[in-house]
Amino acid sequence: MSLQARSWKSGRSVLILFVALALVATVICAVAGSNPKSADQSHAWMNTTLSPDERASMVLKEMTLDEKITLLHGTGMEGLSPISPLAIHSNGGAGYVVGIPRLGIPPIQMSDAAYGVRMSGDNGRYSTALPSCVAGAASWDLDAAFEYGSLIGRELRAQGYNMSLGGGINLTREPRNGRTFEYMGEDPVLAGTMVAALIKGEQAQNVMGDIKHYALNDQESGRKAVNVNIDKRAARESDLLAFEIGIEQSDPAGVMCSYNRLGGEYACENKYLLTDVLKKDWNFKGFVLTDWGGAHSAIKASAAGMDHEEPGWIFYGDTLKKDVESGKVPQAELDDHVHRILRAMFATGLVDNPPQRGVVDVAGGFEVAQRIAEQSSVLLKNDHGLLPLDAAKLRSIAVIGRHADVGMISGGGSAQVDPPGGNAIMPPGKGQTRWLEPVWFPTSPLKAIRAKAPAATVNFNSGADLNAASSLAKSSDVAIVFAYQWESEDMDLDSLSLPEHQDALIAKVAAANPHTIVVLETGGPVTMPWVDHVGAILEVWYAGSKGDDATVNLLFGDAMPVAKLPMTFPRSEADLPHPTVIRPARGSDSEGNVSWQKIAAGLPAFQVTYDEGVKVGYKWYDAEKKSVLFPFGFGLSYTTYAYSNLTVAPGKNPRVTFTVTNTGNRAGAEVAEVYASLPASAAEPPKRLVGWSKLKLNGGESKEVSVDVNPKYLSIFNVERNGWELLPGEYTFMVGGSSQDLPLKQSLTIK
Ligand code: BGC
Repeated sequence: MSLQARSWKSGRSVLILFVALALVATVICAVAGSNPKSADQSHAWMNTTLSPDERASMVLKEMTLDEKITLLHGTGMEGLSPISPLAIHSNGGAGYVVGIPRLGIPPIQMSDAAYGVRMSGDNGRYSTALPSCVAGAASWDLDAAFEYGSLIGRELRAQGYNMSLGGGINLTREPRNGRTFEYMGEDPVLAGTMVAALIKGEQAQNVMGDIKHYALNDQESGRKAVNVNIDKRAARESDLLAFEIGIEQSDPAGVMCSYNRLGGEYACENKYLLTDVLKKDWNFKGFVLTDWGGAHSAIKASAAGMDHEEPGWIFYGDTLKKDVESGKVPQAELDDHVHRILRAMFATGLVDNPPQRGVVDVAGGFEVAQRIAEQSSVLLKNDHGLLPLDAAKLRSIAVIGRHADVGMISGGGSAQVDPPGGNAIMPPGKGQTRWLEPVWFPTSPLKAIRAKAPAATVNFNSGADLNAASSLAKSSDVAIVFAYQWESEDMDLDSLSLPEHQDALIAKVAAANPHTIVVLETGGPVTMPWVDHVGAILEVWYAGSKGDDATVNLLFGDAMPVAKLPMTFPRSEADLPHPTVIRPARGSDSEGNVSWQKIAAGLPAFQVTYDEGVKVGYKWYDAEKKSVLFPFGFGLSYTTYAYSNLTVAPGKNPRVTFTVTNTGNRAGAEVAEVYASLPASAAEPPKRLVGWSKLKLNGGESKEVSVDVNPKYLSIFNVERNGWELLPGEYTFMVGGSSQDLPLKQSLTIK
């Protein structure tokens, strides 16, 4: 953990500094501008019938060099750069970019907003916590993802922000990555498609969206120093494909370049990543902003395609200005950076419809958070129909697990949403969110269970004393263990085991009562040495502001489990491509606990080689023939589904048509997954996800569904030709309810 991080992440001290600088600022603010109200309509570029590009070009023509430079950097942050007096106008988010009032260009107010708007508590506001992003991905539901983004967009606007810093989709290549909860799983097609729906939801609220961390920032350990080695084809077909899809489908305003190096070059000055791939191959029209403190140069970064530095102006202030004046940075290059930012502002509508502060709709947020939690919790095991529980028949319920009496855990770091009233496990008034301290939301499963089963005796045991927990379980009709594993930015997990003796607790409880149900509050996969001994397992991830009611509705059958795993749960860490996390030498600068000047100058690199290449997640386990605990795409329900009548029609987008039948009598929704294997000449892993459809089906109902497969998802990346290539040969399409349960198969020869 970095000391820098601890201090700069606390907005409080920054605010104090801001206040001290207020006097200076009032003098300058007439120039700087901070008025979020709508722009002066008299400017020719306020004509909304013009394209965002035309509008941006018109503004650009009027701008002085100083004004241009102003748009290319933030205004600073304690511990990461100097702070400008103009930062007084910041709304309290992670980034503030001064506007140009004389031209009607508003400031950019950026906030982290992975699963909700960050720092609302620190800023005296309130935000909804949605289930973690990985949960959103587990819904496999594009409408839910759009709704997820829309809620974030609305709450950003209500709090005075016009740009989100969410949209994380680094693939779960290293499942111990402390930000796994903040990302969207292990598959590029799933992650890219889901994040696009989320960003579309945000941008529909006239808020700039962002996608991050570009690219291959797949672990937190030594993230500011690590050099990632991976071959180009594998990168393009895995992590970069997720970004390609996300960007193509949602046109995000921003792409955040990551801290790490790739092939020896820092991501934020990596010409291959930023220009060759992002701007040329993918035709990205928005702007590249650095991760916080991720810039390392002016001339090189500018030439490579970095458009904007955050949080300060170590390179993109006076240094860049001098480099432009001396011709070391061409004027056209500078103008392109500025144009991209202006275009994004016009394209997302925030100039025409600036945020208006208002009261966050708390009840509306609860409703969305609960619905998404219900749609994203994955039922992993349910022996003998133990679930759903019948409240009328149960006389006694044991609720076991640390803090399950008061709350449910949330994901930490810059994604952290502040719970109302503070951290539920802290005494009142002491629950302020702190960097690298687990935060529990005041969503008590114990209370929700008591409310749901009023006729039953519901007893709680924290599990601290295994024998006491076991005897409570023994004397109860059912035992529900709430188990957790906390994740945060700025750390990786030591292992995939549940921490704090929870494995022993679950084993002991299960030995005392065969009707043991485990509810997992985790950011990603965990190992389960007790898996064969418990009756049911429900993965609820970090379930957000209404995690208690959503979880209990699922346990008691008032909601139907309809989600599927967005990542494999392996049997053991020995089965991972890298059985241990590769970390920098202990105490070395590469850990990143050094000054921002040292980080900016570049830390000594250590190497991580992703020799598993494209074989991320299920592609690895398939190729290596390793059995897993729960496969990618897996999830049970309280009903069952059957698949039939597969046909595959050739064409530009091969059309895969099949029938899904709900063979039970309860209404539900099935994620019907389509995989393909490529011709042997492709030398690819045994199969890849190429599409899916989520269908609602009443009990006994059948529906025919068609999935049009994007040919890119069937292609390989040809490095020599620098393009996707659909190889001739035989493709096999497989359809079913999980990556390991694909009852329908049909081949298609592509010439
Ligand atoms: C994180 C980013 C975040 C930024 C601003 C960085 O440490 O990696 O994801 O958006 O801080 O808070």
